[in-house]
Amino acid sequence: MSDPLATLLEGARAQCATATTRAAVEDARVALLGRNAPLTGELRAIGSLPAQERGPAGKRLNEVRVAIEQLLQEREAVVSRAELEQRLQDERVDVTLPGAAVPHGGLHLLTQVRREIEDIFVGLGYRIAEGPEVELEEMNFARLNIPDGHPAKAETDTLWVADGVVLRTHTSPVQARVLLAQPPPIAVIVPGRVYRRETADATHSSIFHQVEGLVVDRGITLADLKGTLQHVARALFGEDREIQLRSSFFPFTEPSVELDVSCFLCDGSGCGACKHSGWIEMLGAGEVDPNVLEMAGLDPDEWSGFAFGMGIERIAMLRHGLRDLRDLYDNDLRFLEQFAS
Ligand code: PHE
Repeated sequence: MSDPLATLLEGARAQCATATTRAAVEDARVALLGRNAPLTGELRAIGSLPAQERGPAGKRLNEVRVAIEQLLQEREAVVSRAELEQRLQDERVDVTLPGAAVPHGGLHLLTQVRREIEDIFVGLGYRIAEGPEVELEEMNFARLNIPDGHPAKAETDTLWVADGVVLRTHTSPVQARVLLAQPPPIAVIVPGRVYRRETADATHSSIFHQVEGLVVDRGITLADLKGTLQHVARALFGEDREIQLRSSFFPFTEPSVELDVSCFLCDGSGCGACKHSGWIEMLGAGEVDPNVLEMAGLDPDEWSGFAFGMGIERIAMLRHGLRDLRDLYDNDLRFLEQFAS
């Protein structure tokens, strides 16, 4: 072995030994075998040697090259294993550590109550219908037997969008729409937002929510209404509840009633919640007025039905003893989280 080559190989061994990362091994490879490496220069110079020297010199240089490659490969294996071990150490996961709690949202109380009401009626075979919040004056009033000049139509209550167009003041216009859209038998509920010209206070809001109900078939009577709403009152307020119907007036029902549920706080004996009457007003209802059926092209001698409308906010407030309607809209999480499910 000629001295320069032995020295070269020794140098390569030393360089490999100091390489502690794969990148450093790669650098060593470039320095030892790359285009500008001394060995490469010597290999290139073979061509200018006298013919008889080329063979042995090439063979020797090649042996050195193979030896260096071997050194690099061995070093690479050692360094790779060390790097892998280091990574396994660094990225070790302690699966016994307690997990971080992930906060999750909940449904708004009004959404919960709305869905609960929907579930009760879907369980009775009702379909859920919807209608526009920007509504024709005709649907909101005339087709519900509310003539011009009726107080419900007076400007103080209604938000007008344009001539003949209002923000619906109740979900009842969807009654008229459903009657026009499908023949009986009909059993629908209509959850939705309604609008009134109202100054907000503890019990009033210019935007609130109702669930309308409409049933039309042959031979429907007030007894069907009563039985249905008794079931609903008990599903919402408890199996022990009683209901009573008080006579009332709505232009689109005849007869009209208001439905009270026995106070679930005092069980009817009288308390602050029921104003010491033992009863809490829950909704308005009645048999569908024959005029409403006729306007939809149905013969009132053949068809009859009942309708009802309840306020979702009111039911939520009653159920949870809320004192101020506005708490439902203020989006104060400290309030809303109490009801998150
Ligand atoms: N639309 C009435 C209201 O907003 C409620 C109602 C609906 C009454 C259906 C009777 C029948 O007060």
